[in-house]
Amino acid sequence: MTDVITSAAEAAAADAADPLAEHRAKFALRAGLVYLDGNSLGAMPVDAPALIDDAARRQWGQDLIESWNANGWWDAPVRIGDRIGRLIGAKAGQVICGDSTSIQLFQALSGALRLNPDRRVLLTDGGNFPTDQYIADSVGRLLGVEVRRISPADAVTALGSGSRSGIGEIAAVSFSAVDYRTGELWDVEAITAAAHAHGAAVVWDLAHAAGALPVHLDDLDAGAGADFAVGCSYKYLNGGPGAPAWLYINARHQATADLPLTGWQGHAEPFALHQHYAPAEGIARGRIGTPPLLSMLALDAALDIFDAADLEQVRAKSLALTDLVLRYAADHLADLGVVAATPAEHHRRGSQVALRLPRAYEAAQALIEAGVVGDFRAPDILRLGFAPLYLTHAQVWGAMETLETILRTGAHLDPRFAIRAAVT
Ligand SMILES: Cc1ncc(COP(=O)(O)O)c(C=O)c1O
Repeated sequence: MTDVITSAAEAAAADAADPLAEHRAKFALRAGLVYLDGNSLGAMPVDAPALIDDAARRQWGQDLIESWNANGWWDAPVRIGDRIGRLIGAKAGQVICGDSTSIQLFQALSGALRLNPDRRVLLTDGGNFPTDQYIADSVGRLLGVEVRRISPADAVTALGSGSRSGIGEIAAVSFSAVDYRTGELWDVEAITAAAHAHGAAVVWDLAHAAGALPVHLDDLDAGAGADFAVGCSYKYLNGGPGAPAWLYINARHQATADLPLTGWQGHAEPFALHQHYAPAEGIARGRIGTPPLLSMLALDAALDIFDAADLEQVRAKSLALTDLVLRYAADHLADLGVVAATPAEHHRRGSQVALRLPRAYEAAQALIEAGVVGDFRAPDILRLGFAPLYLTHAQVWGAMETLETILRTGAHLDPRFAIRAAVT
């Protein structure tokens, strides 16, 4: 393991040697801002406005309906899906781009459960992001399946004991690879293998993993691959507010996957306008209705940056930045009541650090006023996300010094920082 950064000088030295430094200029970030919220909304690629402008003025404004053919609108969900697929270890033809993560979760969970119609249990994480839980409950009600909650930490044992005792009742397993609150990275490989050994399909939510760390969906479980996966593109993928989500369907399921949202664009012959649905071949059956093209086309700007970046280097820098934060918190903030909720081990950490502290909401607001943007997650977490393509080590060191100053001086206790905004 490389040495953990413990001073401003070491942070500056790490920046001087940073192989990803060239990418920072490809993002539009206002001077003086330290943006630690790329795990909620990633920074804007400098090239994005030109792509949006072209999509609006030329493609929509001038070419109008011809754009479906002439400007590649019809193929965009598959083309951009393949570009995202490269970042999550999916060979071409397995990722479709469109709609929101919530909708894609509905598709994936229903599709996964329908692979195992004789089993009546969906296993999910009681600590998962709310939309994952709400959609799981709704799908459970629709399909008459019991939704059982378990920590991903206990999943391998639970799935193993189930198969040994011959229960084999779990139809599908659905977890996020990285816990949105604590930043814990679960054992995606072991859980996938255990689910398959149990005969269950697995659905991964990669919202906090795609673009932040290497994921190898096709390689999981000795090459069998995950069954389904979903994710958004507005966090670490930097696709912009409301950027469309995506759905991965492993090639081996594509001929049989019975997806619930049978929109016309997923039909085998969408322009034959048949009365009854017949799914398209391949990943095209994951299409639903008309996709949000203006935002989808903006994604190309961010994906161009990823094409030129090495995800292993992204991961190495992410770990260096989160190591720095965890060490700083332990060395300088413990006496202020700050406790890390994020695991220290690299293999258990995503690209964020969650710090538990008294008056965390107020601390997050005071930090924002000081130019350091992170966010608050109830009840007591200051959540700091690290997007290695546009952050420097020096910025992160400075952010921790700013946090220490705020907490030591009690600057965050000013009543104006306690006023809750609609979005925290
Ligand atoms: C794990 C996870 N899934 C899904 C979502 C959001 O879903 P949607 O894109 O439908 O808003 C989030 C948002 O932060 C998330 O953290």
